[in-house]
Amino acid sequence: MSVGVIIPAAGQGKRMGTKESKQFLFLDDQPVLLHTLRVFETHPEVGEIVVVTRENEIGRVTGLVEKAGLKKVTKVTVGGRERQESVYQGLKWLTAEWVLVHDAVRPFVSHEAISRLLTVVRMHGAAILAVPVKDTVKQVDSAGIVEMTPDRNRLWAVQTPQAFRTDLLREAHEQAAGQERTVTDDSMLVELLGIDVRVVEGEYTNIKLTTPDDLILAEAIYQMRRNKA
Ligand code: CTP
Ligand code: MG
Repeated sequence: MSVGVIIPAAGQGKRMGTKESKQFLFLDDQPVLLHTLRVFETHPEVGEIVVVTRENEIGRVTGLVEKAGLKKVTKVTVGGRERQESVYQGLKWLTAEWVLVHDAVRPFVSHEAISRLLTVVRMHGAAILAVPVKDTVKQVDSAGIVEMTPDRNRLWAVQTPQAFRTDLLREAHEQAAGQERTVTDDSMLVELLGIDVRVVEGEYTNIKLTTPDDLILAEAIYQMRRNKA
């Protein structure tokens, strides 16, 4: 029951706005990307990791992986313009029966959450980590007027990893590529096949580094973890 991981790390981090792409920014003594990779390197159920990056960063990422002595990284490959294309490229190199897709810029995912997700995906074929939304969410039209307020009790903020039987995710990506359909997460592609995707409760600390204020949060979460350890 082999498990592989795809780490899309080919984004430019436009919303972060830093000169250096956010996956290479330092958190304490190492780049965010390495923090993320170490979580999976040290998870006992993970057997292979494919990292997807921009063409001009292949050498740099390979160097980071070698220097850190990460043994499970089997391939560093080139991504595409959209996240979806990057994941699709990574899938070409994955040999495991099960796949976890995880953003390079979510360094705080825990082993416990990954294990919970793996238990559910093995039973059902498709599972994602998510947390209940804390804020009330409104749907707003382009003129800035509230259209509707969905029931908060049914709203979940979706995270990664997202886990699938590898064949299923391949089929979903191939269908989407044929239709030139672009989506914001892998789950959506699988949902479009009519497959049920299970939600597994994640942790609020599994943040995605997206805007500059997330860097302050990341420092705080990192220190909190370190004090606990
Ligand atoms: N990603 C990728 N290939 C792309 C775009 C994004 O591999 N063409 C990756 C990012 O590197 C990141 C993850 O997908 O690890 C989540 O995407 P996001 O937070 O949107 O990162 P960016 O696209 O880099 O940021 P922005 O949208 O602000 O430009
Ligand atoms: Mg993006």
